[in-house]
Amino acid sequence: MSDFVRIVEVGPRDGLQNEKAIVPTAAKIELIDRLSATGLRVVEVTSFVSPKWVPQLADAAEVYAGIRRHAGVDYPVLVPNLQGYERAREVGVTHVAAFTAASEEFNRRNTNAGIEESLQRFLPVMERAKADGVRVRGYVSTVLGCPYQGEVRVSDVARVAGRLHAMGCEEVSLGDTIGTGTPAKARRMLRAVANEVPMEALAVHFHDTYGQALANILACLEEGVRVVDSAVSGTGGCPYAKGASGNVATEDVVYMLHGMGVQTGIDLPALVATGHWLAALLGRETASKVGRAMGAGA
Ligand code: HMG
Ligand code: MG
Repeated sequence: MSDFVRIVEVGPRDGLQNEKAIVPTAAKIELIDRLSATGLRVVEVTSFVSPKWVPQLADAAEVYAGIRRHAGVDYPVLVPNLQGYERAREVGVTHVAAFTAASEEFNRRNTNAGIEESLQRFLPVMERAKADGVRVRGYVSTVLGCPYQGEVRVSDVARVAGRLHAMGCEEVSLGDTIGTGTPAKARRMLRAVANEVPMEALAVHFHDTYGQALANILACLEEGVRVVDSAVSGTGGCPYAKGASGNVATEDVVYMLHGMGVQTGIDLPALVATGHWLAALLGRETASKVGRAMGAGA
């Protein structure tokens, strides 16, 4: 494997949505600006969801308006409905992410809607995005297990991913929301989805609850995926998924990829330094093993 993998940094969104303490707006902006300077091509900034549901990201508009946008870096945001889309457009967002799940009960707890209803909710968003020239990414959660239903059928994952792609999502990210997946399962799931959505349009999004994320990513890279979501310092989790913990740490993914001769364009020491800076801000040690091994002065 000697090609390029695009990392989608989700820490400012997936990471900070799951922190008990609300991080000050200026610190969020500084985090994104630091990440933008590491060579990352995509930094997911925030979510324009209901502030009652996710108070941690109630300052989405201020954060988006406050960041320094680097040339060559994409800054997508999550939107749950047309209202979120409109709030995002008011501050000039040009790339949004829609989200649903492969399991009914999780989707209800996360968005107060069944899967079909949530897809219908995105139809007007897709229409507006097309007219506005806004790019849309899609997320499918619970692709390798659901905190409420348990096992999730790969056929359900493939069907929902296929629907998002057919609706106009240029990329569909497959989320192991609670991190219960293992490599052979991840591989099987990805293969099934790739029958519905071209591999070039797929991304993988692993939470590391059971320590399986890097192994799962490697299995998916071997299947041909070339877009990987991760969060600096290993922050993250969905407040509506019982037991979900951090995303795989971006530092760990980048270290593995560079060690395999795969390019990411990312300056690992700069990323590690940002991970330590964030961990200090959150009052704990980084969850990245590579970050710990390289140390704060990397
Ligand atoms: P609802 O309560 O059914 O919404 O929530 P509603 O349309 O009935 O509106 C209720 C109130 O919310 C109204 O205000 C609306 O104005 C307001 P009120 O009249 O009561 O004052 N509202 C909004 N305000 C601001 N922005 C909006 C918005 N929408 C409604 N966009 C809703 C439905 C979808 C809004 C809610 O359930 C929600 O926001 N859910 C988001 C939950 C969330 O963010 N979860 C985490 C992200 S997903 C994730 O982490 C997984 C992922 O990482 C992949 C993986 O790991 O699997 C992506
Ligand atoms: Mg997530």
